[in-house]
Amino acid sequence: MIDFTINGRQVSVDVEEDTPLLWVIRDTVELTGTKYGCGIGLCGACTVHVGGRATRACITPVADVAGTEITTIEGLDPDGNHPVQQAWRRLQVPQCGYCQSGQIMQTAAFLKDIPGPTDADIDAVMTGNLCRCMTYNRIRAAVREAAAALRGEATNG
Ligand code: FES
Ligand code: FES
Repeated sequence: MIDFTINGRQVSVDVEEDTPLLWVIRDTVELTGTKYGCGIGLCGACTVHVGGRATRACITPVADVAGTEITTIEGLDPDGNHPVQQAWRRLQVPQCGYCQSGQIMQTAAFLKDIPGPTDADIDAVMTGNLCRCMTYNRIRAAVREAAAALRGEATNG
């Protein structure tokens, strides 16, 4: 059994130690907001927080997260009103939506480290999160808006 906390809930899972965390989240814990894209750590669709750090769940063996605290898109805010989620809604970022939980989780972790990112900072971090629908301009704007909101500055919304 492997124990960890996910979205504040303690869980014990009976799976092989090398099972990718993504499949444990989706199939065992049954939280399907975290998506499968490439499976090799290159698209960011599966991004979750492990101990507050953005982590690619598809290439993380579940044994590596034993005893940690994991947050998925479902647990980022109890009401779905994290400032990043609010900015995403205000600017209507998603198109098909498939990549967006990963984009939001990456952004939420990134803005804890860099609360006042430049466009170059945003591009450097978000380049690992791919979007087939090419929503990149809206993502960049929403990251800026979320950053301002998290700093307590007024936004246009
Ligand atoms: S599915 Fe994990 S990075 Fe693409
Ligand atoms: S919104 Fe469709 S892949 Fe990003």
